[in-house]
Amino acid sequence: MRSIIIYYSHSGNTAKVAEILAEHIKQNGSAELIKLEPINEPKAFFTQAVQAFKRTKTKIKPIKIDLSEYALICLGTPVWAFAPAPAMNKYLNECRGIQDKDVILFVTYGSGLGVRRCLNIMEKEVRNKGAKKIFRFSIQESKVDKQSLVSEVIKGALKKKGVKK
Ligand SMILES: Cc1cc2nc3c(=O)[nH]c(=O)nc-3n(C[C@H](O)[C@H](O)[C@H](O)COP(=O)(O)O)c2cc1C
Repeated sequence: MRSIIIYYSHSGNTAKVAEILAEHIKQNGSAELIKLEPINEPKAFFTQAVQAFKRTKTKIKPIKIDLSEYALICLGTPVWAFAPAPAMNKYLNECRGIQDKDVILFVTYGSGLGVRRCLNIMEKEVRNKGAKKIFRFSIQESKVDKQSLVSEVIKGALKKKGVKK
């Protein structure tokens, strides 16, 4: 199975989860990892939060990938102001080829406020683009270094999706 994981990560938590997810998927095929790179991202927490809250689509370095070439598409972001990070907003808006695909959405978060809302926003975007089945999971920032715990959550999501482990 050819899979791709496209994620944004500011302080590294979502990146860690994306890497563990890739290791699991690789037991059944290939998993490419792509990190979204915003251009001129604001550094101040407040500005980042306001942009995310307003569902801003920030400029990102171009990603020329046709998702129709993959059997499984995984999209990950931190929760920012109860929403996806602006780089993920942009990618969700511009991505092509997600129609009829299975999609795993994942987020990392701090307090937990807005996790469901953030995943709902992402789910709506991919559903509007014709995604077939959607699976979701979330990991709290304090847990990302607990590899076995992250693995259990990921295994649960992959099992639901029907990927054998
Ligand atoms: C601008 C900003 C806004 C955030 N908003 C939320 C939030 O609404 N809810 C929450 O649970 N965590 C929130 N967090 C915490 C992040 O989701 C959490 O630290 C996440 O794991 C960061 O992922 P990263 O290391 O991949 O960037 C926010 C963090 C930042 C920087």
